[in-house]
Amino acid sequence: EKGGYDHFMLKEIYEQPDAIKDTFRGRMLVDQGLIKMAGIDDHIDKFLNARRILIVACGTSWHAGLVAEYIFEELARVPVEVEYASEFRYRNPVIYEDDILVAISQSGETADTMAAIKLAKENGAFVFGVCNVVGSSISRLSDAGAYTHAGPEIGVASTKAFTTQITVLTLIALQLAKKKGKISTSDFHTYLAELETIPAKVEKALQSNDHILQIANIYKNAQNCLYLGRGFNFPVALEGALKLKEISYIHAEGYPAAEMKHGPIALIDEQMPVVVIATKKGHYEKVVSNIQEIKSRSGKIIGIVTEGDKDVKNMADHVIEVPETIEFMTPLLTTIPLQLLSYHIAVLLDKNVDQPRNLAKSVTVE
Ligand code: M6R
Repeated sequence: EKGGYDHFMLKEIYEQPDAIKDTFRGRMLVDQGLIKMAGIDDHIDKFLNARRILIVACGTSWHAGLVAEYIFEELARVPVEVEYASEFRYRNPVIYEDDILVAISQSGETADTMAAIKLAKENGAFVFGVCNVVGSSISRLSDAGAYTHAGPEIGVASTKAFTTQITVLTLIALQLAKKKGKISTSDFHTYLAELETIPAKVEKALQSNDHILQIANIYKNAQNCLYLGRGFNFPVALEGALKLKEISYIHAEGYPAAEMKHGPIALIDEQMPVVVIATKKGHYEKVVSNIQEIKSRSGKIIGIVTEGDKDVKNMADHVIEVPETIEFMTPLLTTIPLQLLSYHIAVLLDKNVDQPRNLAKSVTVE
């Protein structure tokens, strides 16, 4: 049932090229330069007239929501707020009738996310669900939605659900950008063609597995680990840290790289591995100077870089390459090495990767 892999998590990491493909198949018609998504197209007026998009979710799904915030605002120029479902539901939030609430949930059963949906509905907002489990409670509670086609995710640590959530949300952002006239037809075509290449690029990123295992061996006994990223890759840093925490029980924190000097840089010493997402374009020069700051305090740098990178390679203790892509699609690639790094560290520490202590696959209690 694990298809020859030692753990479900590893199997699910390797399923990502197909899961992403399955998620855009039939929705993205590259030759015709079209996106077809019934959940959006049937309610397009709601989306075009929406005052704001409010995204609610928990855990990894919340990280996908943060990536979506950056992509929606960049492409579709619509204001987006992202909130932990548990905070949203208990804080008497302002919700307008012309808001759209996007609820993201792999299982479709998360109690806090369900409660946030009910609150939004009571206030007259339109609810759009992004779930993986067909027929789940959240998919039934939503007014419309789009499924991720990741297939069953068994490992408690979410992997392919995250990348397929980002895929669905990217399709939605592109469709809205087009319908709102915020991007040119030629850019739209370029983006569709690029998204179609992502599964092959994920495949390529997976080929760093052996190299990542070696890096895992060096840092498996670390007590703490920092993850830094900027822009579209800031949420990826949060996700990388969550993955390490939940399966290896090593304390890890994700930060926007520029926030280092506002506090966390005090933690840096020769014991501290710092994973820095430093792909080309995404504020590359700024990230490079953040790396210099860490190096001058003897921190150990694991850089996630674009293929062929030279600058970071010269400074970092290790680099892991991912193929080049359009900036807003980089999270689909930079996530992969972080998943593998946490997986290998957890296995080397002999932890229960698929069922980490204290955690359940779906959190149906608040
Ligand atoms: O099923 P959901 O997407 O609603 O679950 C949300 C979180 O409980 C989930 O992403 C959790 O954070 C994962 N264990 C992270 O790997």
